[in-house]
Amino acid sequence: MKDMEAIRQAAEIIKRGGIVAFPTETVYGLGADAFNPLAVARVFEVKRRPYFDPLIVHVAGYADLEKLVIEIPSDAKRLMERFWPGPLTVVLLKRAEVPDLVTAGLPTVAIRMPKHVMTLNLIQLANCPIVGPSANPFGYLSPTTAEHVRDQLGGQIDFILDGGPCEVGVESTILSFSEKKSRLLRPGGVPLEEIESIIGKVEIRPINEERPSAPGMLPRHYAPRTPIVLDWSKKNLDSYRDKKIGLLAFQEPKNFLKFHQIEVLSKKGDFREAAANLFSAIRRLDALNLDLILAESVPEKGLGRAIMDRLRRASQSLTSPLGGCVAI
Ligand code: TXA
Ligand code: MG
Repeated sequence: MKDMEAIRQAAEIIKRGGIVAFPTETVYGLGADAFNPLAVARVFEVKRRPYFDPLIVHVAGYADLEKLVIEIPSDAKRLMERFWPGPLTVVLLKRAEVPDLVTAGLPTVAIRMPKHVMTLNLIQLANCPIVGPSANPFGYLSPTTAEHVRDQLGGQIDFILDGGPCEVGVESTILSFSEKKSRLLRPGGVPLEEIESIIGKVEIRPINEERPSAPGMLPRHYAPRTPIVLDWSKKNLDSYRDKKIGLLAFQEPKNFLKFHQIEVLSKKGDFREAAANLFSAIRRLDALNLDLILAESVPEKGLGRAIMDRLRRASQSLTSPLGGCVAI
């Protein structure tokens, strides 16, 4: 009942052109009516996000899609049927009515149906598709609890819909269907292997492409204030000896240095658990005024691919054993 009241309030605010943080299974989003350019502009302002970086539009049903896109390729349809509601975003050719501000002037629009009952209700009650970049200042880690949103954007937004901690913890997988072949723009909550098992091989955009077509594909992103180092080995640990260091471990931590604090992502080595803990764990380390965070690599398969993508961007370390994946 309390939730329903909060959803109603949030929907009213969206209808009146306000901005509301909302929960999803991946991370919290910062929402506004996708067809209200003034409200969308405020989302960019509050996030301090450059206008050249387009937004994802969230829908609650297939009827909303008709307002946004001209046609849906059959592969996209198959994936939507399989993974929606869920952490998959598809980039499709947009209708002229979709404001250019939302898509940064691109001929395409990114769409997803989030798997969170409060937000599906919110979209239905507000009666419009809702834009939703992650609810964090541009370039910083995405929020996975309402508390994270409150800490960073609290005073500047109209409402925070608290739906508890996010289940998946890394952002959606983004796939583009704007060319002949489908292309992975960002690894995320739906593993590439699961997508390829349905539609076959998907193109992977090289990370050092000269000019990214989605401007959000910036190499440095998801970054805490404390420097994160990803590619380190015991060899170069000597130079860190006098520093206050935190360790972001995947499973059991190795104690070859005196770490100030250790965060373990998943004792069992479970990718889902590790992804769900990732941003919270980095935030906790970031709050400790450390000199440095050393992060352990995780195997690059399944959700491990999304985790490594976020760690690389957070650490600005761009060498990828994959030959360079991707995006955003
Ligand atoms: O899980 C998620 O996707 C979360 C939750 C809130 O839904 N949202 C999210 O939004 O991660 P954001 O704005 O932080 O990241 C969306 C990325 C941006 O980097 C943007 O560049 C890319 O999607 N994007 C949006 N529209 C696009 C388009 N038309 N073509 C290519 N990339 C696009
Ligand atoms: Mg983001």
